[in-house]
Amino acid sequence: MQRTLATPLAGRRAVITGAASGIGAAIAMAYAQAGASLVLADRNGAALQDVAATCRALGSTVHECIADVGTRSGAQAGVDACVQAFGGIDILVNNAGMLTQAKCIDLTQEMWDDMLRVDLTSVFIASQRALPHMLAQRWGRIINVASQLGIKGGADLTHYAAAKAGVIGFTKSLALEVSKDNVLVNAIAPGPITTTLVDGLSPDWKTAKAKELPLGRFGLAEEVAPIAVLLASEPGGNLFVGQTLGPNSGDVMP
Ligand SMILES: NC(=O)c1ccc[n+]([C@@H]2O[C@H](COP(=O)([O-])OP(=O)(O)OC[C@H]3O[C@@H](n4cnc5c(N)ncnc54)[C@H](O)[C@@H]3O)[C@@H](O)[C@H]2O)c1
Repeated sequence: MQRTLATPLAGRRAVITGAASGIGAAIAMAYAQAGASLVLADRNGAALQDVAATCRALGSTVHECIADVGTRSGAQAGVDACVQAFGGIDILVNNAGMLTQAKCIDLTQEMWDDMLRVDLTSVFIASQRALPHMLAQRWGRIINVASQLGIKGGADLTHYAAAKAGVIGFTKSLALEVSKDNVLVNAIAPGPITTTLVDGLSPDWKTAKAKELPLGRFGLAEEVAPIAVLLASEPGGNLFVGQTLGPNSGDVMP
């Protein structure tokens, strides 16, 4: 397939973690439409199958990888599957994430450790696994899904906000290390997006939060996914290095 404006990722081999739902599923479908070959990784195998089927119907070659990115081998598994299936990796989207809530005073060490492992350490492990391939071919794109709460903080979410602030710091630092080798590392820091991640929050909280947004509403996963396409596209993504893009309905204006 030729790389065109409609298929900017034709010939690219991409791994997307957390691809079974929400933002990751929307990125998977957008990448399939854009012509990429895909490894979709998630711990939820049943939902992953459905997303993979949709991506295949859009014309993409898709491998499913059932893995828990909270473990070292699980965080490496998507990259390994991509190298095995397609002979290399061009794009890594570190999107898998979880959300739990507690006041800092009540937060257990286990909740803290789980959050850091899934939302931050996995980003380091998967990126480190992908880098030798990207550096050797002098082309790579790493896109980390952070959160605006990593910038503004969130009450009852010290562990989540700390993990996501860590993702933003990791993104900038790795970008400084590898951009001269044409491996570009960037982050997306969404505001509130209607996905299963926020399903558990109370309707009152959601109504109040939507009112306080300049746009007056939560975003949709489909409104975030095109940013991940742009960051991996040429020439549109070529000048983004260590950036944190904010599809956040105006909640944070850095
Ligand atoms: N929805 C929002 O408001 C929002 C806002 C800012 C950032 N984010 C971030 O966006 C990313 C995607 O979240 P979403 O809103 O699409 O949520 P979601 O719950 O719809 O999807 C998350 C996906 O990650 C997978 N996952 C979770 N833990 C995993 C693990 N240990 N191993 C493998 N897969 C795992 C889940 O199975 C699920 O398919 C997350 O990193 C989240 O922190 C979401």
